[in-house]
Amino acid sequence: MSLLMTIVSLMYLISAACYVIGLHMMRTPKTARNGNRVSAVGMIIAVIMTFLIALHQNEATMTGSLILVVGLVLGLGYGTIRARTVEMTDMPQLVSLFNAVGGGAAAAIGTFDYLSMAAGSHLHFAFSFPVALDLVIGGITFSGSLIATGKLAGKISGKPITFPGAKLLNAVVVIVILVSVVLTIGFAANSWWLILTLCASLVFGILMTIPIGGADMPVVVSLLNAFTGLAVSMAGFVIDNQALIIAGALVGAAGTILTLQMAAAMNRSVMNIIAGGFGTGDSNSAAADDIPVNVKETTADDVGVQLAYANNVMIVPGYGLAAAQAQHEVAELAKLLTDHDINVNYAIHPVAGRMPGHMNVLLAEVNVPYDQMKQLEEANSMFENTDVSLVIGANDVTNPAARRKGTAITGMPILDVDKSKSVVVIKRSMSTGYAGIQNELFSDDKTHMLFSDAKKGIQEIIASTKEYLDE
Ligand code: TAP
Repeated sequence: MSLLMTIVSLMYLISAACYVIGLHMMRTPKTARNGNRVSAVGMIIAVIMTFLIALHQNEATMTGSLILVVGLVLGLGYGTIRARTVEMTDMPQLVSLFNAVGGGAAAAIGTFDYLSMAAGSHLHFAFSFPVALDLVIGGITFSGSLIATGKLAGKISGKPITFPGAKLLNAVVVIVILVSVVLTIGFAANSWWLILTLCASLVFGILMTIPIGGADMPVVVSLLNAFTGLAVSMAGFVIDNQALIIAGALVGAAGTILTLQMAAAMNRSVMNIIAGGFGTGDSNSAAADDIPVNVKETTADDVGVQLAYANNVMIVPGYGLAAAQAQHEVAELAKLLTDHDINVNYAIHPVAGRMPGHMNVLLAEVNVPYDQMKQLEEANSMFENTDVSLVIGANDVTNPAARRKGTAITGMPILDVDKSKSVVVIKRSMSTGYAGIQNELFSDDKTHMLFSDAKKGIQEIIASTKEYLDE
């Protein structure tokens, strides 16, 4: 091994260590930002090393090098601008778009390497097997993620799209994929097998994603993210690049764990989600829809009195808080109360908002102390001693209908807000949340509704609370 290759291998090891350390740091909001930075440094090291190898081995022609540089500049530019300007609520579709790019790149690597084999030449299993998997997983991820992006962005209907004979068509496409993979692995190089594998995988990616709807989309995006990792790992085997193998394996493992955790937070199995049909609001939701909506309205002034005389307050944030960008006001209100010796905590549901960790990210942005953020189980153990629960733009994650059979959210673990002594809900109207069903909490005797945009409502509550706290 030349000195350069020894150095490159060592640097790849360092970059792999950066990914692992970075991922470890991402497990809590406190260290997550730095974890991201450490992982990015690892990725930059790997990219520089790969360029060095290409230059050293004189692998890239002038045109090839130019394409690499232009691609890098365009990718860096687009990625930086999009990541900096994206609205928090649009994050899932951006992640999904990045998944598509990862899967597409992996499939492109496999395609290029296969086509570089002379037609009719004998293929070794160690080469053709990862190439075939790369094409299948990369192809499915590419088309599936593009459809998911379209659905999340509202460009394609978010409802499950089904048609007669869909299951049969799925089965046929799966058989075509299996046959074409066998032909790719077990026979001499022939670009037709490659094209067949790729096309069938792209079609399967579309067929797999269109029947999935509503609240299941984030789980599917996470699953496709795990697929991207696998595809990238296979691409690493194809071009013999250790950094790619390790990074891909880590993404695959992390994506799989996240998928399982999200499915568990919705009390669903991944297979059940892929089968489709949840979160559309039109399945089995009649029971919850039928509940007479008997709500009591309140004013910011009344809420101010309640808060000023409370000992324990629980803030329950949801999607509406993110939509209103009211996190600064929430933090200000919490500080006002804690400065007057009133205990304030935040109840965080794992799928509140529109992406995993959405509420943690928003609250971390305004420096909410981490020990005040209570996860589902801990929060649920605290509601009985809570004087006022302030539900801000949260709906489905507090809906007691989840405890009954036959509703669209049956079985989903919820925040037991209805167990607190008094509940105030801030939202603009009686419209439903993501799952499309009415919330029984809103007609509970203990609940008062403050119909307002979250930001405006909290500003008014701050003003009135100050009056009662003699500020
Ligand atoms: P939702 O149930 O979606 O309810 C959000 C509520 O916020 C709405 O009822 C809406 O009512 C209110 N709202 C919207 N804009 C507002 C504003 N400017 N000011 C005040 N309120 C506003 O939210 P949730 O309780 O956070 O539950 C999340 C749901 O999304 C779950 O069903 C979950 O399964 C699903 N989901 C989760 C994820 C992840 S991974 N977190 C991803 C996709 C979907 P008004 O219109 O009346 O104001």
